[in-house]
Amino acid sequence: MTSSLVRVGIIGTGNIGADHVDRVAHQVSGARVEALFDVMTDRVSALADSVGARSLPSARAVIEDDAVDAIIVASPAEFHAELSLFSIAAGKPVLCEKPLAPTNDECQIVVDAELEKGRRFVSLGFMRRYDAAYRHLREHLDGDKIGIPLHLRCVHRNPDVPPTFTSEMSMTDAVIHEIDCARWLLGEEISSIRVISGKSTPDAPHGLRDPQLVIMESTSGVLVSVEIFVAAQFGYDVRCEVSGSRGFSSMGYQDLGDYVTVAGRHSAFSPNWRVRFGEAYRLEIQDWVNGLAVGEIRGANAFDGLAATTVAQAGVQAVRTGDIVPVHLPTRPSLYD
Ligand SMILES: NC(=O)c1ccc[n+]([C@@H]2O[C@H](COP(=O)([O-])OP(=O)(O)OC[C@H]3O[C@@H](n4cnc5c(N)ncnc54)[C@H](O)[C@@H]3O)[C@@H](O)[C@H]2O)c1
Repeated sequence: MTSSLVRVGIIGTGNIGADHVDRVAHQVSGARVEALFDVMTDRVSALADSVGARSLPSARAVIEDDAVDAIIVASPAEFHAELSLFSIAAGKPVLCEKPLAPTNDECQIVVDAELEKGRRFVSLGFMRRYDAAYRHLREHLDGDKIGIPLHLRCVHRNPDVPPTFTSEMSMTDAVIHEIDCARWLLGEEISSIRVISGKSTPDAPHGLRDPQLVIMESTSGVLVSVEIFVAAQFGYDVRCEVSGSRGFSSMGYQDLGDYVTVAGRHSAFSPNWRVRFGEAYRLEIQDWVNGLAVGEIRGANAFDGLAATTVAQAGVQAVRTGDIVPVHLPTRPSLYD
C-alpha cells in the first residue's frame, strides 16, 4: 500500500454497493473511495463525483488500476467469482459480497486460486459476524455459559420480495446468512439439510412457498432450524436462540422496544436489513480496512463462502425434492485454519 489510506475500488453500485461507497467515504476511518465501476454508467458517474472518486470503464480497469489498493465486489452474484479471481491475480485484497458464487464449482476455483498463491485475499460479506447481538450469543457459547449447544432456533422474516423471487432463492439469498451464522456460532460444518413448506401466505409472489421451515444438522448432531418467511409484511425480523445442555441464550426475542403512536401500539422492528444490520456492515468494513493496514485479511474467508454455497445448494435440492439432502464439503485446507 503506497498511501496511508487504503484506496478502495468498488464494483457494482446498486443497493448494497452504493451503501458501501457511503460507508468507505464517510463512515469508516483509514480508507477512501478511489474508483468505481457499474454497468449503469450514468448513475455511477454521479456517485463517483459525490465522493471524489473516478468512474472507470470496466471492472478490470478498477481492479488493475495502480491507485487502487483493495476491491469491494457488490455486483450480482454471477460475477463474484470472476471478479474475485481477477483481484487475486492482481494481488489485491477483495471484500466480496455474499455469495462467493452461485455454484460450488466456482467457489472451489476461487479457493484453489488462493491455495495456488499460498495466501488469502478474499473476505466475504457475512456481516452478521459483526452484529453485537450475534457476538453476544457467540460469547455465551464460547464462554460455556449454557453448556453444550443442542439446538439453534432461527427466524428470518423479510417484509417483501420482488415478484421474481423463488422458493430456491429463499435458500441462496436469505438462509445463506443463517448457514454462515450456524457454522460460525457452532464452529462446525453443516452435514444435512431438509426443507418443509406448509400453507403459504397469500402475500407471497406466485409460486413462492413462504414460509418454509429449514432443518439442518451439524457434524456433531446439533439441530439448526430456520423459519424463513420473506413476504412477512410487517418488517424485518431476525432472531436466534440457542438451547444448550444447561441453559439457553437468545437474540432478537427481547428488547423489541414497543412504542405507541396515535395510530396504535407498535413494536420497533427494523423496516429492512439495511437498518437492522447497518452497524454490522460498518464494523465489517472498518475491520477489513484495519486488517489491510497491518497486512491481515479478516472476516469470513473463501472457504466459508464455499461451505455456505454448498449448504445453500443442498437446500435448493431439498426444496425441490423434499428429501433430507446430505452436504458434501471438501476438507478445509490449513490456509483457512
Ligand atoms: N450481505 C448482505 O446482507 C447483502 C445485502 C444485500 C445484497 N447483498 C449481495 O450484494 C450483491 C448485490 O446485491 P444488490 O441488492 O446491491 O443488487 P442490485 O441489483 O441493487 O445492485 C447490483 C449492481 O451491480 C450492477 N451490475 C450488474 N452487472 C454488473 C457487472 N457485470 N459489473 C459491475 N456491476 C454490475 C448493477 O447495475 C447494479 O447497480 C448480491 O450478491 C447480493 O446477494 C448482500
